[in-house]
Amino acid sequence: MGWKTLDDMDLNGKRVLVRVDINVPVVDGVVTDATRIQRIVPTVRDILAAGGKPILLAHFGRPGGERRENLSLKQLVPTLESAFGTKVLFAADCVGTEAELAAQALQPGQVLLLENTRFHAAETKNDADLAAGMARLGDVYCNDAFSAAHRAHSSTEAIARLLPACAGRLMQAELQALESALGAPERPVTAVVGGAKVSTKLELLGNLIDKVDYLVIGGGMANTFLVAQGVSVGKSLAETAMKDTAAEILTKAESTGCQIVLPRDVVVAETFEANAPHHVLPADQCPDDGMILDAGPESVAAIIEIFEKSKTLIWNGPLGAFELEPFDAATNAAALKAAALSRSGQLISVAGGGDTVAALNASGAAKDFTYISTAGGAFLEWMEGKTLPGVAALDQ
Ligand code: 3PG
Ligand code: MG
Repeated sequence: MGWKTLDDMDLNGKRVLVRVDINVPVVDGVVTDATRIQRIVPTVRDILAAGGKPILLAHFGRPGGERRENLSLKQLVPTLESAFGTKVLFAADCVGTEAELAAQALQPGQVLLLENTRFHAAETKNDADLAAGMARLGDVYCNDAFSAAHRAHSSTEAIARLLPACAGRLMQAELQALESALGAPERPVTAVVGGAKVSTKLELLGNLIDKVDYLVIGGGMANTFLVAQGVSVGKSLAETAMKDTAAEILTKAESTGCQIVLPRDVVVAETFEANAPHHVLPADQCPDDGMILDAGPESVAAIIEIFEKSKTLIWNGPLGAFELEPFDAATNAAALKAAALSRSGQLISVAGGGDTVAALNASGAAKDFTYISTAGGAFLEWMEGKTLPGVAALDQ
């Protein structure tokens, strides 16, 4: 690892521009999961303790280069203040005169939060001028946003080349935990990949086949694979246009010796609603007006059997429509089994991704997983062995 940490930097009296990922879920102005905020606290505290002045750079949602009030970071100030236990000032832009004056005026013990970097279209183009404008605000750059490190943006990539740069505590912890659990994983290795779409995880699935012994496919994505096998899935969520690609993945898996695990039985309802009337059917018996909302008990038993034989588990994406009771049953049962095996030392388990972590928290399984990453996309790209631009840029 060629990057520096906060311990290698002289922070006393310095303005430290910290790229954080506080892209947290907010419903009606209320933060519903503050995990990402809690996990940057050590970095902010350590900078303050060393006499540095933290200036937070972050994105929020995908405003596409427009100033959108509902995506203003200002709404997170109270949550940040209570997490840090200190005053958080706010500047209404991440570059320019107002931000520069606020950065100059920052007092020891205070934190400055800059407005959503993605209000500038240049941010996602990794624009050098925008990065230079940000760099004027600080003396040192610290990247603590592992979960945004798969993006080559001005605030994650270009800026790291303009100031003395280092990794924050969460960035360090994420990279170290992933490396120690998954760098040379004990086999058999099982991956659970769920969620709605094959199209967004296609490359991942293709790459994972080379790396894992069992690939459990769940959620809407599993329906696309059933379609690829010639099974009718009724009204279920499925990307029928992707069926040939899914078939190619199945064929490739056969040649590499990776066992793909698809649902054997499914929970079918007629409407996408909590507590919709439902029944369990064999996976190839979904009626035309039916919708597959979860994996059935036989499928769960098969998954649990695989977990028992595995030494390492990687999990991203729920097995069913976990946000609707009781269609969270398969996800919960499998997660609790993984948690129990991890607790007894039989399994190394790592999970990442917003929906996944929400599901594992809801079932109470998260606390027993070996490691929970704050990252979704970045975690998956790391697993595929891809270079993360935000990490690579710290190698100076
Ligand atoms: C995330 O929540 O996935 C990260 O904050 C990155 O956001 P993005 O997927 O919009 O780039
Ligand atoms: Mg994302």
